[in-house]
Amino acid sequence: MNDQYAIEPAVENLLEFARVAALNSYSPYSGFRVGAALKLTNGEIVTGTNVENTSLGLTICAERAALVRAVSQFGPKIRIEAVAIANLNNAASPPCGSCRQALAEFILPEAPVLFPSTDGIRTMAFSALLPQGFELKPK
Ligand code: THU
Repeated sequence: MNDQYAIEPAVENLLEFARVAALNSYSPYSGFRVGAALKLTNGEIVTGTNVENTSLGLTICAERAALVRAVSQFGPKIRIEAVAIANLNNAASPPCGSCRQALAEFILPEAPVLFPSTDGIRTMAFSALLPQGFELKPK
């Protein structure tokens, strides 16, 4: 899949889940309210929001919050077929590098990832967002 700006109805719906999830954000330090929604291959949609911490470094991003929730609810065999990210701050918010690496564990390479960019919602295939992700290859 190439970068694209036209949003299919099924993933537009996923964006709405991400927006609703962002309403629950715990972000007293940054004020940046993020939501993520994962569409799983089992048909389920799982959401998450960012949960900050006074130590700052312990902050959990919305994408990873959704990911751990999905595995906790549906087990280690889940696969992610689409991701949507939203924020309530009218800002660009592509997934951070840590979240890309974390998602890589469970996501299909061609899964579309929708995120707010400077010029609207952008859609990229996951493989384009993390082209050289780390993989442990046991000897
Ligand atoms: N944040 C996310 O939730 N996802 C990202 O991919 C990047 C950043 C959150 C973490 C923190 O609570 C706030 O946005 C500002 O960095």
